[in-house]
Amino acid sequence: MRLILLYLHILLFHFTSFSSSSSNLLCHHEDSSALLQFKSSFTIDTENYACSEQPQKTATWKNGTNCCSWHGVSCDTVSGHVIGLNLGCESLNGTFPGLIYLDLSNHKLFGSLPNWLLDIDSLQFLGLSHNMFTSMDQFIRNQWLQDLDISFNLLAGDIPLSICNKSSLAYLNLAHNKLTGIIPQCLANLSSIQVLDLQMNKFYGTIPSNFSQDCDLRTLNLNGNLLEGNLPKCLSNCQKLEALNLGSNKIEDHFPYWIQTMQHLEVLVLRENKLYGPIGNINIKHPFPSLIIFDISSNNFSGPLPKAYIQNFEAMKTVTQVGQESNSQYMERMGLRGIKYYDSVTMTVKGNNIVMVKIPITFANIDLSQNNFEGEIPNFIGQLQALKGLNLSHNRLTGAIPQSIGNLTNLESLDLSSNILTGAIPAELAYLNGLEVLNLSHNHLMGEIPQGKQFNTFSNDSYEGNLRLCGFPLSKKCGPEQYSPPSANNFWSEEKFGFGWKPVAIGYGCGAVLGIGLGYFMFLIGKPRWLVMIFGGQPKRRVNRRRTRVRRTNGSTMNQMVPMS
Ligand SMILES: *[C@@H]1O[C@H](CO)[C@@H](O)[C@H](O)[C@H]1NC(C)=O
Ligand SMILES: *[C@@H]1O[C@H](CO)[C@@H](O)[C@H](O)[C@H]1NC(C)=O
Ligand SMILES: *[C@@H]1O[C@H](CO)[C@@H](O)[C@H](O)[C@H]1NC(C)=O
Ligand SMILES: *[C@@H]1O[C@H](CO)[C@@H](O)[C@H](O)[C@H]1NC(C)=O
Ligand SMILES: *[C@@H]1O[C@H](CO)[C@@H](O)[C@H](O)[C@H]1NC(C)=O
Ligand SMILES: *[C@@H]1O[C@H](CO)[C@@H](O)[C@H](O)[C@H]1NC(C)=O
Ligand SMILES: *[C@@H]1O[C@H](CO)[C@@H](O)[C@H](O)[C@H]1NC(C)=O
Ligand SMILES: *[C@@H]1O[C@H](CO)[C@@H](O)[C@H](O)[C@H]1NC(C)=O
Ligand SMILES: *[C@@H]1O[C@H](CO)[C@@H](O)[C@H](O)[C@H]1NC(C)=O
Ligand SMILES: *[C@@H]1O[C@H](CO)[C@@H](O)[C@H](O)[C@H]1NC(C)=O
Repeated sequence: MRLILLYLHILLFHFTSFSSSSSNLLCHHEDSSALLQFKSSFTIDTENYACSEQPQKTATWKNGTNCCSWHGVSCDTVSGHVIGLNLGCESLNGTFPGLIYLDLSNHKLFGSLPNWLLDIDSLQFLGLSHNMFTSMDQFIRNQWLQDLDISFNLLAGDIPLSICNKSSLAYLNLAHNKLTGIIPQCLANLSSIQVLDLQMNKFYGTIPSNFSQDCDLRTLNLNGNLLEGNLPKCLSNCQKLEALNLGSNKIEDHFPYWIQTMQHLEVLVLRENKLYGPIGNINIKHPFPSLIIFDISSNNFSGPLPKAYIQNFEAMKTVTQVGQESNSQYMERMGLRGIKYYDSVTMTVKGNNIVMVKIPITFANIDLSQNNFEGEIPNFIGQLQALKGLNLSHNRLTGAIPQSIGNLTNLESLDLSSNILTGAIPAELAYLNGLEVLNLSHNHLMGEIPQGKQFNTFSNDSYEGNLRLCGFPLSKKCGPEQYSPPSANNFWSEEKFGFGWKPVAIGYGCGAVLGIGLGYFMFLIGKPRWLVMIFGGQPKRRVNRRRTRVRRTNGSTMNQMVPMS
């Protein structure tokens, strides 16, 4: 380890809001001992003490005293944790303590990334996410850096080409910045790189096309940029890919067949591009065996639905059990020292555009909406037992809704709207206990809407634009001899469902819903929604019917969802 002189001068640690009343807070023990350790790793260079500030700040750092009152230290006014260090003018002389791992994420650091930080030789992990850095003058010269996370900052400008001199880089996360320019081709030729996350920037030009034979990529996320041109075929060199997210760009190409052989691919997102043409039936034995998320919505694909794929999505046929020790709950990559990188996607979930910053491994989802697909929905779609969401809306699909969809017992969201579907709604759908969102509107469906159970939770806008449908909740009755809907107060009668419970008076559409428009939702596993509504907790009011049924529970998956801005 090199001996470095840390002139923490203008310093990295600038804060927008220094709390002047820090000293009233009581310091956390672990913070205090970390600071004392930090102090003991340096000697103070009094000769070079250039500032008029008195006294030297670290001289006030004493064990047994409240660290929030130490000079240069500021604490969060709520949590009491140390959030700021201002060591300007302190000339510390020493080796940076243990520094393999440095995590300074979630502060309010701003300005240019300090060069000395990028020069620390021993550093293998550098976490600077969720700060306000605006630029980096140079790129890391350190040979050992493996894991660099500067996501969620305000970095602007191009990625310095010197980044490719870093042969050891395995994780590069520059997501959610304002970076622009062309993605350096040479990045694709970094043999060590496993995660390349550049989503939500302003990169333009084409996708790097130099992915080499020994490509080790597991995650490539270029979602939300301005990339155009083709999908580079050499990506097929990256057979270890587990997540490929190229959504929301301007890519113009046919469907990339060469992706289908990727044995480990779990997430394929190509939504909101300019992809076109039919997705033919290519004869390979097991296309996409591990795929869980297939989102090619909002493109210009045509021809029949990709039946050969649907029939072979093996991973969607098996319901994954979470909670077992070996299984992680989310799609993630394990980095240094157990630091996890989580795959993320932007998707339309239950009608809301949501950024999922962690993807539950149970989140099986197919979105083929907003294309020009035609023909029938294959019956074998009912084999994809693990599916939570199916969106085939805004296409030109014909024929009947397959009864087998009633087999998709994990389904929470089904959108078949704006197609040309005919026939009756299969009664089997009423048994989908977890179904929270149903949209069959704008089709040519006819006959009586199935009654009871889950279907009592849908309002009539699930069916609008089907002139020949009748029965509750539409105001159009099905004819005198047929079923006529009972009134709200006796709807849940004991005879009907055979419960020994007293019927509870609930209004139509009184779902356990807080349609607050935020991206919070939970997966309602195994609990029939209509049962939960009646017997679980206090009845809640639906706020806004047109918003999807967004459930909010004790924080279960809340932290993973960020509403779209
Ligand atoms: C601070 O003092 C306590 C005892 O008062 C001692 O246990 C602890 O190790 C000291 N911490 C440091 C960092 O010197
Ligand atoms: C830093 O400390 C080392 C000894 O630990 C000493 O040799 C060196 O001269 C010091 N550097 C400065 C600039 O004071
Ligand atoms: C990469 O490093 C070499 C020497 O280490 C240097 O000569 C070259 O300019 C660097 N390339 C870039 C693009 O920084
Ligand atoms: C990328 O590969 C092409 C040929 O496939 C080559 O012409 C080009 O020079 C390569 N670019 C870099 C930066 O390696
Ligand atoms: C990839 O990098 C290697 C050296 O690491 C170089 O020999 C090769 O030409 C590069 N390939 C491309 C396509 O840029
Ligand atoms: C979509 O593809 C069809 C042909 O399949 C073409 O007629 C149409 O112009 C395309 N639409 C767009 C927006 O590219
Ligand atoms: C289905 O996709 C369409 C278009 O992409 C979208 O507007 C709609 O909200 C989606 N439906 C659901 C239930 O997520
Ligand atoms: C649906 O489930 C039933 C009964 O479990 C079974 O007979 C039928 O084959 C299933 N259909 C499909 C398409 O999986
Ligand atoms: C159903 O989909 C249509 C578009 O196909 C949309 O206008 C409508 O708002 C959706 N209804 C519900 C209840 O999600
Ligand atoms: C939908 O329900 C509302 C009352 O909830 C009713 O006023 C309206 O007429 C119904 N629309 C149709 C098409 O049945």
